[in-house]
Amino acid sequence: MTTMHANLLNQFLDYAHRADPYPILARMREHPVDVQDDGRYLVSTYAEIRACLQDPRFSSDLRKGYSKTDQRIDEEEAPPSFIRLDPPKHDWLRHQVMTHFSPELIHGLRPRIEEVAGALLDAHKQQAQLDIVDDFAYPLPVTIICEVLGVPGEDVALFHTWADQLILGADPSKSTNQEIVQQAKSARVQLRHYMGKLIDRVQQAPGPGLLSAMLHPATQEKQMTKEDLVGIAVLLLIAGHVTTVNLIANSMLTLLRSPEHFARLRREPSIVAKLVEEVLRYEPPVQLVRRTTLTEVPLAGVTIPKGAPVYLMLAAGNRDPLRFDDPERFDPERPAIEHLGFAQGIHYCVGAPLARLETQIALTALARRLQDPRLVEDPPPYRESPTLRGPRHLLVTLHHR
Ligand code: HEM
Repeated sequence: MTTMHANLLNQFLDYAHRADPYPILARMREHPVDVQDDGRYLVSTYAEIRACLQDPRFSSDLRKGYSKTDQRIDEEEAPPSFIRLDPPKHDWLRHQVMTHFSPELIHGLRPRIEEVAGALLDAHKQQAQLDIVDDFAYPLPVTIICEVLGVPGEDVALFHTWADQLILGADPSKSTNQEIVQQAKSARVQLRHYMGKLIDRVQQAPGPGLLSAMLHPATQEKQMTKEDLVGIAVLLLIAGHVTTVNLIANSMLTLLRSPEHFARLRREPSIVAKLVEEVLRYEPPVQLVRRTTLTEVPLAGVTIPKGAPVYLMLAAGNRDPLRFDDPERFDPERPAIEHLGFAQGIHYCVGAPLARLETQIALTALARRLQDPRLVEDPPPYRESPTLRGPRHLLVTLHHR
């Protein structure tokens, strides 16, 4: 039976496999749906993951599951943000955000993103070495999401530690580490407190930014509660940069490993959109998403019981040979790839257009400005998180002309 298999999820979560989780993900795919010896279910093939993402019997509200130890503690003291809610509340809150976080708004950010990207590279142009993560890929999306929300620039540094603590606390392999869990809890409390105060200020004096627009909507529909708005602000702030940093860094790592693609990007900047899509398939910054079953669900010959913790392994589905030809090959010329990098279904990433734009601009600027960059260390040191996976540092040496 399925329980005979090694606990592949624990192996995947183990930091030792962070730099190259793909052999483990390939083993997971041998059983499209599989149960681990601790009762967690894995779904690892493209068709089955997609089916789960579109099936309302798979809930994003983990409080509805039976596995208490598997729940994120940080979700206990405050109502979850809409990424962790089901319809109808999810749909209503998501709609409120989408109304303001519009394609026009994103499109209009292009000049500012280009300006910030250029300024970051200018600031380091005399150096012989650049850390693509700390010097560029992290500050770029943080600066932009703070400006979009209307968070004062001088507060940006505050979020760095809170975001790191939150991510570590959400790591499924750390759920029994009390110190990490407590730190994440306290980071969330502080972030909510900060956003609450900011929202009070914006309530008094409307200003630029999304929060102000949401507080003072042009058409007065049903008003959002302050608690809902705090949840949205925290979600957008965190989701708005801890993922994009990894997309930029994973992209650069991939390009540095196959310099022919980097050279092509310099010659032919219009290839950038295809490159980014292929990185979202090949090295997705969000490797898995979690669900719980609202009822018993038979899938691919396995009956998942009600209330089970379910891990949808997006990164495994993205390399499923039944869906993609020669999936272990990085190939930006794949037609209409429909990767799972931003998930699918009702929780499809709200920030996908922004993340795409930021990463496309970032890669174009790096290709234009960096002369013959060379990786200092391969593999680079990785972040702890198995879920939000990417290099912690990405050092390159530069040659100035
Ligand atoms: C490369 C960057 C990004 C990646 C790979 C990514 C990936 C994802 C994924 C996989 C989900 C689905 C979660 C689930 O189904 O449980 C998601 C949801 C979400 N993302 Fe992103 N994301 C990125 C950037 C952003 C940005 C820049 C923002 C906001 C500014 C954002 C905001 C959100 C929100 C609000 C949701 C929840 C949507 C919902 O529940 O309806 N993301 N993202």
